[in-house]
Amino acid sequence: MTTDVLIIGSGGAGLSAALSAKEQGADVIVACKSLPNNAQTCMAQGGINASFDINEIDTHISDTLRSSHGLGSEQMTRTMCENSAIAIEWLASIGVPFSLDEKDNLAKRFMGGASQKRTYYAQDYTGLKILHTLYDNCLKNGVIFKNERLLLNLIVQDKTVQGATFLDITTGEIEAIYAKSVVIATGGYSTVYHGFTTNGIGSTGDGIASIIRAGGVASDLEFVQFHPTALKKSSILVSEAARGEGGYLVNSEGERFVNELAPRDEVARAITREINNGKGVFLDLRHLRREKLTELLPQEMKLCRLHEGIDMATELIPIKPAAHYTMGGIEVNDSLETRDIKGCFAVGECSNAHVHGANRLGGNSLLEIIALGRMAGINASKFEPKTTAKNQEQLLKDKHFISGVYNFTNQINFYEKREFLGKILYHNAGVIRNEIGLKGVLAAVRQMQKEFTFMGISDKSKDNNTNLVEFIEFGNTLEVVEMLLVGALHRTESRGAHYREDFNSENETFRSHSMFWKEDGVLCASFEEAK
Ligand code: FUM
Repeated sequence: MTTDVLIIGSGGAGLSAALSAKEQGADVIVACKSLPNNAQTCMAQGGINASFDINEIDTHISDTLRSSHGLGSEQMTRTMCENSAIAIEWLASIGVPFSLDEKDNLAKRFMGGASQKRTYYAQDYTGLKILHTLYDNCLKNGVIFKNERLLLNLIVQDKTVQGATFLDITTGEIEAIYAKSVVIATGGYSTVYHGFTTNGIGSTGDGIASIIRAGGVASDLEFVQFHPTALKKSSILVSEAARGEGGYLVNSEGERFVNELAPRDEVARAITREINNGKGVFLDLRHLRREKLTELLPQEMKLCRLHEGIDMATELIPIKPAAHYTMGGIEVNDSLETRDIKGCFAVGECSNAHVHGANRLGGNSLLEIIALGRMAGINASKFEPKTTAKNQEQLLKDKHFISGVYNFTNQINFYEKREFLGKILYHNAGVIRNEIGLKGVLAAVRQMQKEFTFMGISDKSKDNNTNLVEFIEFGNTLEVVEMLLVGALHRTESRGAHYREDFNSENETFRSHSMFWKEDGVLCASFEEAK
């Protein structure tokens, strides 16, 4: 199978890229691990940031850079913010039903860390509505979807991408899709915190692991954003919009203890300290009254009732921070092309375009996936590869690997390891970290890497084998987590979402990006000064 542009991932970033590449006249295939619309874009409930005049743009840039703690690129942040108004207008033009205010203008709300109201929304379903609208438009414009394709590896020849190999989950066959260029839009890796994440099961860093195996570079993986308000029992997200609309955070003594609209890293730390001091923490929305809650936060009302048995109009909502968004990812240049692999672009949460730095602002993730997603699609559609000889080896290697997995001994249950890893990561490499905890988890991860071939699958069927899918995802998890921990251990300072209680202040020598790559299968890392 061959196309002009292959997009891997069908979240908002992938679909924006797909539509834009299609608008340029390219043939586009979107390959996605699940079904379209089953993407973490839906988790960005509160809204999308946009700035409509020069003053607003300047403030948006300075808020974003301040929150990035020295790791945001001024150039890329400017590109994103300057394209924000166009992004909103484009979304409205293709049918996203944004909420309106009493004067019938687009309604906007506050999100954390913002010095102005700039978050546009569709109630508390913003990501979901954007995603569905993009998908409809992709179908209408002839983008081809290959659903239930699990990315195995990129196909690379002479440091230029030629496509990727996939497990067709429905048939169990291994296939290659060749393309002139590839856009990786596979999302982040919050699900490595298994059981302690707002994300669904699929955010296992597949694209990042594939770039490392293909000889590319990833960066800043130690920066993981913990959303302050996940439901205590289920880790289901309660949108920051709840605080943006005036919600309070209180402890079990009924005291407010933090500015609810501070950036997420600060709020998550304040909550964690309360919890570590033995207190419960709650979101209090009762004073907003049922009518307003029903109008502005209908999804949150339903989720609280369903997953916590709470009526938010009359009861306190028990919460805890949970892994929500990963700032690190595939290292890309200002054209969103990946380092060391030509023709391969990456966008959205799987990439590190240096627009979030050490801590992302709420509302900027949807902006990134639209503004930069479109840019990735356009740039990919213009790429003309120089090499023509096709690499056929990758497909053979991957067929061989998958048939090997069926013979792994399965002496060790990887599901137990996955759960254990989620727990020790949350407690030792979560909101608050220290050297002893990080070293302990790294030792456990390296042991799991050694034991990988003693794990395996118990379901030996070929088609629709979720056991096989989850095992491959677990392999990716182990690769990504090793980088996360190496970065967190060597970054002996606190910056944004990376907080070390043993090095609790920012250190100028670390105003740099952690870089990760592999040589002969061995993980290498270094720090590179931030621009
Ligand atoms: O809280 C939220 O609605 C999440 C928004 C975001 O991650 O940008």
